[in-house]
Amino acid sequence: MDEQDVRYDFDHHSAEFAADPWRVYRDLRQRCPVAHSTTYDGGFWVLSAYRDVRRATLDTAVFSSDLDDLLIPEENPGRLLPVQSDPPLATAYRAVINPLFTSAAVRRLEPSIRRCVDAAIDAFAAVGSAELIVDLAMPVPGAVTMCLVGWPESEWLDVVHPIREFSTHPSGSRERAAAAVALAGLRERVTDNVRHRVTEPDGDLASLLVAGSVRGRPLTEAEMVDIMMMVLFGGVDTTVAAIGNMVLYLDEDRELRRQLIQDPRLISGAVEELLRYQAPVQGFARLVTEDTEIGGQRITQGEKVFLAWAAANRDPEVFTDPDDVRLDRGRNPHLAFGIGSHRCIGATLAKLELRIVLERLLARIPDYRVDRKSVHPTPSCGTTFGSRRIPVTFTPTDVG
Ligand code: HEM
Repeated sequence: MDEQDVRYDFDHHSAEFAADPWRVYRDLRQRCPVAHSTTYDGGFWVLSAYRDVRRATLDTAVFSSDLDDLLIPEENPGRLLPVQSDPPLATAYRAVINPLFTSAAVRRLEPSIRRCVDAAIDAFAAVGSAELIVDLAMPVPGAVTMCLVGWPESEWLDVVHPIREFSTHPSGSRERAAAAVALAGLRERVTDNVRHRVTEPDGDLASLLVAGSVRGRPLTEAEMVDIMMMVLFGGVDTTVAAIGNMVLYLDEDRELRRQLIQDPRLISGAVEELLRYQAPVQGFARLVTEDTEIGGQRITQGEKVFLAWAAANRDPEVFTDPDDVRLDRGRNPHLAFGIGSHRCIGATLAKLELRIVLERLLARIPDYRVDRKSVHPTPSCGTTFGSRRIPVTFTPTDVG
């Protein structure tokens, strides 16, 4: 393949991309599944076919996560771990926080999640209208993340706001720059929390980190902070976007909404399929550690590759009718949570949150209607694909 064939003007932060990333991915997969874009960072590769994305994500020796930033363009708002490291160290970091994410630990969080979801719905159920990003999609993951790290639930907005501002604005924007400053403030709070727990452990995440070790040595303070920042980052904007995408989709597909209301046992499968259909995390970068070949294309050591999990999830080679939402898929090997050594450690928790949100929303305001002309994608969908606002109206119901 000559150079001309692989050139593609891929800009995942553009308004055009945000309007319909799936069209861009379809085009990429058909014309140029291993494409080279020069939009950012002096050029980078984009993988969009399922087989290539999967292979590269699993091959951590050649496609390394040990780089200054997993986002393209590179901005480095502070290192996050384990996501910016490679096995075996990455695996050791994961082992330290794993107790928070086991099935048993997630089950223990279920009553708190139910309480947070119902409290959010209580605040607008009797009114007959709401804006579901601010009133539901943000407070639920926000409060759950606070429970997870052991911080006061009422302060969730201090965490959600800077993370969401950063994730949903394009690189170079004023909002993103302001969010980076606020994130530095959040990092300071995390650092104070970790320092405090060295002398006064109390069973929260910071205490778990202080007691943790990798390769037979304690974690450094910087490592503890980087891990805790990742837990905060991981749980917030991804889940906000997913809740919004699901609520919006169910406004369009009334038949699916009817089925889920009639038989809520279908909700788990619907969550899985909707995550495939509109993967909130579009993709992250990897750094190529040695000259390699993928999808018939040679890539050179030192180049960057964007692994488009969202594109892989619509690959017709793997998913029949990829652009349709189908509850009868059976096996659904989507890559919305990545795959392999860095596969989302919070996936079980995220899916539980999403299931409970849909269960309670459909039980309590089953006839919600979205004011679609007021719905717009977030200013950038290059990091997470989602909506800025989702205004709805519905028949007012009793609180509680
Ligand atoms: C729908 C919601 C979510 C989506 C779509 C999502 C997506 C992802 C993806 C794609 C990765 C892989 C990154 C890579 O390979 O480079 C990842 C990693 C991670 N996620 Fe999630 N995530 C979600 C929710 C959560 C939640 C609720 C938490 C925790 C509170 C969380 C914490 C993490 C952490 C700590 C990692 C890093 C794992 C590692 O590097 O080993 N995520 N997530």
